[in-house]
Amino acid sequence: MQSAILLLASAGAAVAQLATTSEPSLSQIQQAAATVVPSSPTSNVEGVAFKQFYQIWLENIDYSAASGDENQKYLASKGITLTNYWAVAHPSEPNYISSAAGDQFALDNDDFWQIPENVSTVADLLDTKKISWGEYQEHSPYPGFQGFNYSNQENFANDYVRKHNPLVIFDSVASNASRLTQIKNFTNLWDDIKNDKLPQWAFITPNMTDDAHDTNITFASTWERGFIEELETHSNFWNESLILLTFDETEHYPISNKVFSILLGGAIPKDLVGTVDDTFYTHYSSLATVQANWRLPSLGRWDCGANIFQLVSNKTGYTNYEVDTSNLYLNSSFIGPLSQNVYSKYSSTWAAPLTGNQTCSAGHGILQAVKDTWGKLAPTYNYTSPVPYDTDAGKDVSTPFSRNGTTWFTGVNDTKLAGTGTSDGASPTSSTAPAATSSGAASSTGTTGKLALAVSAFLPFLAVF
Ligand SMILES: *[C@@H]1O[C@H](CO)[C@@H](O)[C@H](O)[C@H]1NC(C)=O
Ligand SMILES: *[C@@H]1O[C@H](CO)[C@@H](O)[C@H](O)[C@H]1NC(C)=O
Ligand SMILES: *[C@@H]1O[C@H](CO)[C@@H](O)[C@H](O)[C@H]1NC(C)=O
Ligand SMILES: *[C@@H]1O[C@H](CO)[C@@H](O)[C@H](O)[C@H]1NC(C)=O
Ligand SMILES: *[C@@H]1O[C@H](CO)[C@@H](O)[C@H](O)[C@H]1NC(C)=O
Ligand SMILES: *[C@@H]1O[C@H](CO)[C@@H](O)[C@H](O)[C@H]1NC(C)=O
Ligand SMILES: *[C@@H]1O[C@H](CO)[C@@H](O)[C@H](O)[C@H]1NC(C)=O
Ligand SMILES: *[C@@H]1O[C@H](CO)[C@@H](O)[C@H](O)[C@H]1NC(C)=O
Ligand SMILES: *[C@@H]1O[C@H](CO)[C@@H](O)[C@H](O)[C@H]1NC(C)=O
Ligand SMILES: *[C@@H]1O[C@H](CO)[C@@H](O)[C@H](O)[C@H]1NC(C)=O
Ligand SMILES: *[C@@H]1O[C@H](CO)[C@@H](O)[C@H](O)[C@H]1NC(C)=O
Ligand SMILES: *[C@@H]1O[C@H](CO)[C@@H](O)[C@H](O)[C@H]1NC(C)=O
Repeated sequence: MQSAILLLASAGAAVAQLATTSEPSLSQIQQAAATVVPSSPTSNVEGVAFKQFYQIWLENIDYSAASGDENQKYLASKGITLTNYWAVAHPSEPNYISSAAGDQFALDNDDFWQIPENVSTVADLLDTKKISWGEYQEHSPYPGFQGFNYSNQENFANDYVRKHNPLVIFDSVASNASRLTQIKNFTNLWDDIKNDKLPQWAFITPNMTDDAHDTNITFASTWERGFIEELETHSNFWNESLILLTFDETEHYPISNKVFSILLGGAIPKDLVGTVDDTFYTHYSSLATVQANWRLPSLGRWDCGANIFQLVSNKTGYTNYEVDTSNLYLNSSFIGPLSQNVYSKYSSTWAAPLTGNQTCSAGHGILQAVKDTWGKLAPTYNYTSPVPYDTDAGKDVSTPFSRNGTTWFTGVNDTKLAGTGTSDGASPTSSTAPAATSSGAASSTGTTGKLALAVSAFLPFLAVF
């Protein structure tokens, strides 16, 4: 088996630098692009309701704006509209990492992070059954690129950004060279379609123009409709797939963080085309759905209790929770290792997942590696809840950003949350890091945390391994 070290040796020093440098130079990127080869493992594992799962996320659009868009309405008419699907935080990055690991780890910013290797992700779950997986990140310069951004090289407009690439942020993925080669770009997507080398699970991220981040719902939905219509002509992509179209978060922070979402693809039975599903879902639901579909274990985090898309839960007999959303916002963070801004404070403790004999909503228990790694610790939160939930509520978030009541991370209807999804910084140096991480203490232990950007600029060879 090829180890990360072997790949570094064969691909040369440039890769070693890139692994730890948030802002590699163009020549470093070009050097790596010339040597790193994409990989496209395939598999053919039957599922309960679909054989492939692809999700495509757009950016920062309120439910009302998306649901009013003509192209979104058109796409919805071709599938199932999810009218009660929620993002879990602000800004972007916590939502993306949630979809991979079942937790936002209190992330409340869009900075350069590396989540420690002992945190498992959907990649580990899929690997238990050798279900092939990948990512397609538009305009990522080469497979497994770990830099903070790769901009349009003519006008330097935002293009590929790491904060929208869920798996690369996890060291359990990024420290494994063969996994990195499965994190590819749109050129590779069309190649994989043409060569019939599609993975069974993929996360698909358009660039900052196409995803509405730097444009608007009209532009992005026109792009998305064209993209979907092209994909539909490729039966190896379409016929046995469940495709989730959603948004990372709402544009405006003080409102409820419900995002307009659609299920599409050949896996949708004809009689459900054009229907509406008002079950309560979150970004954690895509994990629970994938687990139920392929009978995979849970990560023991908020994927454990998450509601499962009816398309699958109807077949497994699982009854989804009804959730009272009347005071729900899901728009604020809490204390944790990745929190650092005005919403909350920093804590060095990584939340412990469930490791007992919980069955979780998918019904297949908790991943053994999660039990082995975290089993000595009591779970930090009530992860069997369908909504992010806090067992020591009140202790860890100071007013005025406290949660209502004693239980839920409901978020707050507070005008102090005046931000919007468009205000997140494009520059890695735009946010103020807490002393605990900006000193470089976390990275100098060789384990985890934010790579202090000012420091890394002078220490390009800082080791990850
Ligand atoms: C996509 O990645 C390939 C390497 O797999 C690279 O050759 C190509 O330039 C990249 N495409 C874009 C648009 O960046
Ligand atoms: C990343 O973004 C910054 C700020 O826009 C830009 O100066 C830099 O050239 C970008 N890096 C790459 C590799 O595109
Ligand atoms: C994003 O990709 C589209 C093609 O899908 C391209 O037209 C656009 O220029 C790209 N954005 C940037 C900033 O390069
Ligand atoms: C690296 O990733 C591959 C593919 O996900 C997996 O099969 C392999 O076990 C991983 N290797 C290590 C050392 O974790
Ligand atoms: C939407 O974005 C596109 C591309 O940036 C722009 O041409 C168009 O004018 C924008 N429309 C509105 C209503 O802002
Ligand atoms: C995919 O589905 C379409 C429409 O039902 C059908 O015409 C086509 O033969 C299918 N292709 C494959 C490869 O199953
Ligand atoms: C699931 O079952 C319910 C109740 O029988 C039904 O109303 C709904 O249409 C089904 N949904 C899906 C997606 O199969
Ligand atoms: C397993 O679950 C049962 C009840 O379902 C409980 O009584 C028992 O203590 C649990 N065992 C462990 C090790 O958590
Ligand atoms: C997981 O890794 C982090 C960072 O290295 C460490 O602080 C934590 O103690 C580890 N947790 C377990 C259960 O090993
Ligand atoms: C955890 O959440 C579930 C679902 O909301 C609830 O039924 C259960 O009582 C909660 N457990 C604790 C210990 O609060
Ligand atoms: C918020 O707090 C008030 C006052 O304690 C309570 O009546 C209300 O039910 C709480 N709402 C939620 C969603 O917990
Ligand atoms: C939030 O509070 C404002 C006034 O403080 C109110 O107008 C608005 O309706 C509230 N929003 C929700 C979703 O409850």
